[in-house]
Amino acid sequence: MKPTIHLPAYPKELADWWWKETTQQWPEHGQEKVLNLIREEIVRQSDRFNKTRDFDPSSYGARDLSVLAYGNFYTPRTFAACGFSLAEAFNFRGWRAPGKGPLRILDLGSGTGASSLAALFYLRAWGIKNPIQLDAWDYSGKSLTFLRRIHRENSHLWQNTSINTERKDLRHLEDSSNQGGYDLIISSYALNEWLEGTEENLRAEVLSSLGNLLKENGHLVLTEPADGEVCRALHGACRQAVAENKRMHILAPYFNGMPCPLLQKQSKFFSHEVRTCTPPPMVEKINHPLNLEIREVKFGMSILARTQPRQIPENSGVFRIISPVRKRKGTITLWGIGGNGEELEFEWQRRNLLKEDQKLLLSLERGDIVEQGNPLENQDNRVRLMGADEIRPLFIPRWQEMD
Ligand SMILES: C[S@@+](CC[C@H](N)C(=O)[O-])C[C@H]1O[C@@H](n2cnc3c(N)ncnc32)[C@H](O)[C@@H]1O
Repeated sequence: MKPTIHLPAYPKELADWWWKETTQQWPEHGQEKVLNLIREEIVRQSDRFNKTRDFDPSSYGARDLSVLAYGNFYTPRTFAACGFSLAEAFNFRGWRAPGKGPLRILDLGSGTGASSLAALFYLRAWGIKNPIQLDAWDYSGKSLTFLRRIHRENSHLWQNTSINTERKDLRHLEDSSNQGGYDLIISSYALNEWLEGTEENLRAEVLSSLGNLLKENGHLVLTEPADGEVCRALHGACRQAVAENKRMHILAPYFNGMPCPLLQKQSKFFSHEVRTCTPPPMVEKINHPLNLEIREVKFGMSILARTQPRQIPENSGVFRIISPVRKRKGTITLWGIGGNGEELEFEWQRRNLLKEDQKLLLSLERGDIVEQGNPLENQDNRVRLMGADEIRPLFIPRWQEMD
């Protein structure tokens, strides 16, 4: 299926920058020893993200090893995830840069800047020419120092952009209510940390108040790790935020302003995207004995705005893919959610498909948005289709391999 937008691969300059910084930190160690230090730290970080969930300004981003391990290993992944979420705002949900003047972005929990720099890099790659001013807030001063340096030392990757960092504890956002006027507010892999342990009411209030910092046409693009509890918390907070604040609307991941239908139905599944992307060679090297999944980026995503979402007629045939595409003995199947929030299973008999068309269908990814125009029959929420050309791409973002 023809991609509707491309994401250029993670820049080699950034992978090299992080590795150079790392080797300079321990000039007395050989490469294998440094790699092992990083691997041990990645296991510790992974436990912090997934098990202990203890986040405070001194433990996170305060130590060089912790920052360097994140920079080398996790940054390419969160850079990609933020890029895919922004691609949806830009390529499908109708976000536009201002006609003239600077574009203003706020990154909440920017850390060393995977998401900030992804925003600058991808908006330029997609042809946005405005000067960009990005404000990056985080409570880790050390991380923000790294962010300023990476931005300055790789300026050719994001020309005519400026970054202003502020050390701030996001649990006290009330002091920020006098700021605002942002075209984009992003927060990647950070919301769950700064709102850890809070009630849905408070999360909703926070999202609602972030709406006040947006320009009338601005978008709030939230990207979170693909963990059931974290994604349900994200979608629950979005649902409550728009129920209580009539000036806020949910634009994504579904249609017509609807909250996540999987959450509404208390499904055992949860909304998240799974996208293919190729990691830089250093990530492969670090990962060698760890054997973690590095060829896919999985994330939960939600986009909120003050403008109404564009209306998709309920029976238009537009749907978002919410499952893996499965090749069974005789069929290819996938699940989608359409304009009315209903789950539908789509099925093709493989004997009706040319090899090429099977390949096209199997290249679809969870999170793609497509439109099917010609259902043969629709029984028990199952749509049987004959050809691959019965669906057409509406949002198919794809990672662009390095040359
Ligand atoms: C997993 S990192 C994500 C960094 C970056 N956004 C990315 O996409 O890779 C989470 C960030 O949230 C920041 N953070 C967590 N709780 C915070 C709080 N209460 N106030 C400010 N920053 C916070 C951490 O310092 C860290 O930089």
